[in-house]
Amino acid sequence: MTQKSPEDLRNEIRKCRKLTSKPFGVNFTLLPALRPPNYKAYAEVIISEGVKVVETAGRQPDDFIKMFKSAGIYVIHKCVQVRHALHAQKIGVDCISMDGFECGGHPGEADVGNWVLLPAAAKKLKIPFIVSGGCATGTQLAAALALGAEGMNMGTRFMATREASIHSNIKESIVNASENDTTLVMRSVKNTERVFKTDSAMKCREIEAEKPGNIMAIRHLVTGENYRKSFQETGDTDSIWSCGQSIGLINDIPTVENLVNRIIWSAENTIRARLNGLLDSPMKAKL
Ligand SMILES: Cc1cc2nc3c(=O)[nH]c(=O)nc-3n(C[C@H](O)[C@H](O)[C@H](O)COP(=O)(O)O)c2cc1C
Repeated sequence: MTQKSPEDLRNEIRKCRKLTSKPFGVNFTLLPALRPPNYKAYAEVIISEGVKVVETAGRQPDDFIKMFKSAGIYVIHKCVQVRHALHAQKIGVDCISMDGFECGGHPGEADVGNWVLLPAAAKKLKIPFIVSGGCATGTQLAAALALGAEGMNMGTRFMATREASIHSNIKESIVNASENDTTLVMRSVKNTERVFKTDSAMKCREIEAEKPGNIMAIRHLVTGENYRKSFQETGDTDSIWSCGQSIGLINDIPTVENLVNRIIWSAENTIRARLNGLLDSPMKAKL
């Protein structure tokens, strides 16, 4: 939904293809909107451009998932509840991205964190799943693998990288924040969003407390246009913009290459040195 029209999405896909020979995916988000975009036209662009992987997210994705699957696309469905994951599995998705309550963006309304969500998913799902939400470190990757996930998705952590095409003020705010610096807006309209705790976000919560469910009363604060301007033009950090609790784990702005290598190294080190090491401890003799 960062692309204003299906043709903009087509151009972006083509641009990405020119920049890398590696496979890449497209995110396809279905969110409640006052004026819903022409989702079908976006889906048709994804299919006609031969994209190999799609991450679907949001409400009532069934028809689109079926459309992508008929086109032979590998579909990862991102969801926040195990029952939604089971439904997606039933209609044929290949992989689930389990998005815990810690996540930036839309954590849903069930408020279950990854510490419980992942083992619950592992118990019930037959298809593979990855962890999403609040992830920024290699130790978390090692923990997620231990809990049954096959990999890790990161949103906020990638925002604070050199390559991320957002204003440096936003990146600096992430680096300087703690895990207590997010809040939830749009709860009263059942479209909860985890965002940076700014004056605007707190104002939005105040209005929601006074006029719950009244989207028109908060629309001027939550409109995507504010978001876009802050990220891409002004760098105004006081607007309402998404980020996860992982902001408390982010202390620098590395290149993506450096970040990914570091995370893999740290996950391997955690498994080899710390976890494997525990097996040689006196504990082992007791077991
Ligand atoms: C600024 C921002 C914008 C996002 N936009 C979308 C979106 O359009 N569609 C979507 O499915 N998820 C979106 N997300 C959620 C991410 O894809 C991912 O699920 C989430 O960031 C994971 O949590 P984390 O930020 O704690 O890593 C967004 C997240 C952020 C931080």
